[in-house]
Formats: sequence, structure tokens, C-alpha cells
Amino acid sequence: MLAYRHAFHAGNHADVLKHAVLVAVLRHMNAKEKAWRMVDTHAGAGAYALEAAYAQKHAEYRQGIEPLWSLPTLPPMLSDYVEQVRVFNPDGGLGHYPGSPWLARHLMRPQDQLRLYERHPTDHGLLAELFEGDRQVIVEHADGFAGLRAHLPPPSRRGVLLIDPSYEIKTDYAAVTDAVSEALTRFAQCVVMVWYPHLDTRESAQLPQRLKPIADAQASKGWLHARLTVAEPNDRGFGLLGSGLFVINPPHTLHEQLRLMLPVLVRTLGQYAGAHHRLEAAAGL
Ligand SMILES: C[S@@+](CC[C@H](N)C(=O)[O-])C[C@H]1O[C@@H](n2cnc3c(N)ncnc32)[C@H](O)[C@@H]1O
Repeated sequence: MLAYRHAFHAGNHADVLKHAVLVAVLRHMNAKEKAWRMVDTHAGAGAYALEAAYAQKHAEYRQGIEPLWSLPTLPPMLSDYVEQVRVFNPDGGLGHYPGSPWLARHLMRPQDQLRLYERHPTDHGLLAELFEGDRQVIVEHADGFAGLRAHLPPPSRRGVLLIDPSYEIKTDYAAVTDAVSEALTRFAQCVVMVWYPHLDTRESAQLPQRLKPIADAQASKGWLHARLTVAEPNDRGFGLLGSGLFVINPPHTLHEQLRLMLPVLVRTLGQYAGAHHRLEAAAGL
């Protein structure tokens, strides 16, 4: 039984990092007329009400999107992302937060396609309702790791894969590396985004190290790894310290965009004096 509900975490620092990069990646895809297809293997509910009891429980968005919402100047990548969240809040206040499916749908053009997987019955129901009747979006109530095979490579050979599990079960880490390897075997040019939690655990530290050789061997345009650490490790060894994003075949502009954005996220979202970021790239990127 899946216990994780993204509604508890919507708009937190991890969503900020992941969604800012997603917006930048899709902007880059839109620079060419040719159609793209995005597969979101762990899609969540698609959209969240921040005033709802779930989001209010820990009010994580207060240390995520909220501090950015009122900043007068932001680096371009962050400003574009915050603008998307504003579009989702036409009343002007920060009452709702868009998930990756909504952001992708909003940036899609008529020729593009979105394939969504969500296994939690309630969140799948909400997602299916959000996109009911939308012919460009297919919502599956199934395992996204297995499902991605059916959609890669897309006929246009332009694609984005977002792998964003909840890592509720430790096997998710191995499932991620297997899925990335399989996706790149099918489609070496695919832009792959893997989100992972920065925890004080071996699995969390090893994931990017395991992805690097896979990307080095199989990807056509290298990789970038960005990690944002906002919270102080505690002596009990648990709790989310931050999060990381591993992007394979990144847009050529992403490295510089991240270089400008990450220090702003550290300053704005850092919860202790030691908050910091890390940005690494494949040789030659
Ligand atoms: C971190 S949330 C996704 C957030 C979403 N990608 C976003 O950025 O808005 C992870 C989701 O994966 C779902 N999930 C867990 N295991 C899954 C699996 N094997 N296949 C599909 N969905 C799964 C969970 O129910 C949860 O809603």
C-alpha cells in the first residue's frame, strides 16, 4: 500500500528545484517546431490546493515557493518558473501549486504529447479527472517504471522522461538506475530528469554516482547533477536535507542557468547557515 501523498509536500524546496528545471527543459524543447513527447513516470495528483489540510499539515511550501513568490528580482530560469505558478493562480495570491503534469501540459503545443503514470488510486483519480477528455494526455493507473517502455522512443525522436519516485521503498533506487539504462538503450537522445531526496543514507549518496557511468556510456549529450542542501543533518540520521536532480542530455543552456539559480535558492530557501549547493557536469559540458 502506498502511503506517500505529494499533497503534503507540494511547493516545497524539492518541487522548486525540480519544477524550475522542468520548465527550462520544456522551453528548450519548444525552441524547435518538431513534436516532443514527455513521460512522467510518477506523476502525482497533477495540481494541489495549498490551503487544503494536506498541504497545511507541515506547510512545506512556506519554505519553498512562498519566499520566491514575493522576491522582486530572480534569475531568468527561476523567474520563468514562478511565472508558471502565477498563471496557475489567476487570483494573484498563492493558493494553489501546479504539479509536473500541469506544468508540462501548460507548456505543450498542439503537436506534443504527455504520458502520465500514477499508482496511488486517489491521486490517479484526481489526475485522470484533471485531464479528462484531453487528447494530448494519457493517464495510466500503473507502474511508471514498467510503463515508460511503451513510449520510448517517440516517433518524432524528441522526448523528455521525468522519473520522480517517492523512494518509499528502497528498491526504488535500483529501479531508477534500471529504468534510466533501459530508456537510454531505447533512445540515447532522450532528456532524462531523475529527482532524488538528499538524505543521510547510503542509497541517496550512491544514486548520482550510479547514474554517472550509465549516462557516460549511453547518453549522447552528457549529464548535469544539481543538488540543493537546505536543512542541517540531525544526529538521528533522518529527515530530508534537500534534493538532487540528475539531468541526462541536458539542454546546452542549462548548466549556466543552474549556475545562476542555485546560489539564489541557497540564500532564499536555506534553513541553516551551512545550506549549500553542488553542481557537477559530465566532462566537456
Ligand atoms: C514525488 S510524487 C510525484 C510528484 C510529481 N512528479 C510532481 O512533480 O508534481 C511521487 C508519486 O509517485 C507515485 N508512485 C509511487 N510508486 C509508483 C510507481 N511504481 N509507478 C507510478 N507511480 C508511483 C506516488 O503515489 C506519488 O504520487
